[in-house]
Amino acid sequence: MVHDMDSQDNSARRFIRVASLEELPEGASRLVQMAGHDIALFRVNGQVYAMNDLCPHMGDSLSAGQLWEGMIICPRHMWAFRLQDGGCQDVPGLRAQLYEVRVVNGEIQVALPREEPLSGDGRCECDATVQPDRGCPSV
Ligand code: FES
Repeated sequence: MVHDMDSQDNSARRFIRVASLEELPEGASRLVQMAGHDIALFRVNGQVYAMNDLCPHMGDSLSAGQLWEGMIICPRHMWAFRLQDGGCQDVPGLRAQLYEVRVVNGEIQVALPREEPLSGDGRCECDATVQPDRGCPSV
């Protein structure tokens, strides 16, 4: 979701520029990296969404999927994830990770998760793979 907020409103969070709004036209998807995270950006109906690019099912790239009626369809098994809340339409309880996103002066900025400070090599502490606590419920 697009937030045009003053950066002072988010002192507890660290927003990082990942792209310009011009680089994400309406209806487009784009893969960017932020502090070692692969982030899928989507722009639908003027709103910008940021989601972990790794599908919570088996890790395929969600940015390579198809946008459809406010959802991203994973290219591997065609499961649909809502852009609004990351929830999976096909498997209740499965959820793609969303990131806070805002647009400031035409620049898309994504919030670094609070507990993940930048390390020296630019990678976070997490594994940046499928979330173990959100593994496929069908396996
Ligand atoms: S890997 Fe995405 S739905 Fe299976």
